[in-house]
Amino acid sequence: MSRLIVVSNRVNPPTGKGDESVGGLAMALAAALREYSGIWFGWSGKTTDKFTGQLNMQKADGVTVATVDLEEGDYQEYYNGYANKTLWPLFHYRVDLTAYDRSFGEGYDRVNKRFAETLLPLIEPDDVIWVHDYHLIPMARELRRLGVTNRIGFFLHIPWPAHQLVVTLPRHRPLVEAMFHYDLIGFQTEESVQAFEGYVFNEVGGERTEDGRLTAFGQTTTAGAFPIGIDAEDFARIKESPRATRVYDRLMAHSVFRKMVVGVDRLDYSKGLEERMLGYEQFLHDNPDMRGDVFLVQVTPISRDVVDSYQDIRARLDALAGRINGEYADMDWQPIRYLNRSYRRDQLAGIYRAARVCMVTPLRDGMNLVAKEYVAAQNPEDPGVLILSRFAGAAEQMGEALLVNPFSREEVADAIKRALRMPLEERIRKWRALMKVVRDTDVGVWRDQFVGDLASITVKGDGGGLFHQDAFQRDGQGHHADAA
Ligand code: F6P
Repeated sequence: MSRLIVVSNRVNPPTGKGDESVGGLAMALAAALREYSGIWFGWSGKTTDKFTGQLNMQKADGVTVATVDLEEGDYQEYYNGYANKTLWPLFHYRVDLTAYDRSFGEGYDRVNKRFAETLLPLIEPDDVIWVHDYHLIPMARELRRLGVTNRIGFFLHIPWPAHQLVVTLPRHRPLVEAMFHYDLIGFQTEESVQAFEGYVFNEVGGERTEDGRLTAFGQTTTAGAFPIGIDAEDFARIKESPRATRVYDRLMAHSVFRKMVVGVDRLDYSKGLEERMLGYEQFLHDNPDMRGDVFLVQVTPISRDVVDSYQDIRARLDALAGRINGEYADMDWQPIRYLNRSYRRDQLAGIYRAARVCMVTPLRDGMNLVAKEYVAAQNPEDPGVLILSRFAGAAEQMGEALLVNPFSREEVADAIKRALRMPLEERIRKWRALMKVVRDTDVGVWRDQFVGDLASITVKGDGGGLFHQDAFQRDGQGHHADAA
């Protein structure tokens, strides 16, 4: 029987108690593994002086988790370095923040090799391996070097950038070549698929085969869009939980005669937080009559705070929130509540439900699951309005939101006003259309489509020959995917 081995840098074993905080990737992978029996492998989040390759195995809420510690130098060069100072900014179109140090690339390759060697003894002949995100692009190449012929798929949770940005990376070619060791590559959006193909066709003379696959570097792979979703059923359950209800009641009691606007984002320069606050300030400036009727709750847990660019954006946001509050607040009203902390998912469900408007305005984002969770948390009879950046992957699916250009503060200000004044009938019509997307493309559909497609394509090596999708060990009750 085939098992699913999920590989990701960050491994957040689920607790099953709904106390997980923000982090779409972790929630999605936990849901995938509960359905298919298997292993979740990745970094323990800890560092040691010397890499040992010692595996730490545990079972959490029906998921087997295998983690390994990283050496301090690896953590600096691979995680803080190549992943978060090179690939993250570049893939979010921030060439100005991208560091191109050679040592980072070396650390990145070394860790991918170490991960592959550590994972190797756990792999059985029929296993299907699913690698996630930009930290681990070379993982398949390293596994192939060790003789692994199993099916290996890759999913990129962040955007794939335009060709002209990729080539600013000194070693862009080997990075893309490494992608061709996968049997299937998944992106969040059609836009990313096209950007990837643009590189392959125009930079390295790759071609499309008759059956729609891609060939380059003497290898063939398949690329497609697999938009990630939320666990809609689970979210519907937690939004009714006592904790969600308590948070909702508390917020409603504090916002009598006032409408709440909410934003929930990791503290990251890609999220457009400064632009959002400036857009909100513009709204306050343009609409003096609406000032005291509204307040913005911005939930922003600190993240990657050892990286300079994250310290800079944090300092700028502190100053900006302070300035706007100083300028506009009254003795009984504060325009922005800026909170550098995280909340449990059940608490977030209550926060979302209490908010008349949600602002999801990243400058670039792979998908953005806050947009989907906000919609899922609404009261169908009195739903709130989603303001969504056209540069979030979610915009490809959620055209019924108020789509904005987050770089334009006037556009953001106008959207806030329109959202706050939107009649109930229009809110309900928009919400129904958005909720249909959230339900129809939830995390189960994402998982089953990717795994189904991976299961049905012809593999590179001879491995997985015994594999077919019906042979999957399934722990959950979910439906079988339709193999393409
Ligand atoms: O989706 C992007 C991502 O980097 C995930 O891989 C990760 O789980 C999340 O953002 C949080 O980032 P980090 O693991 O660096 O804290």
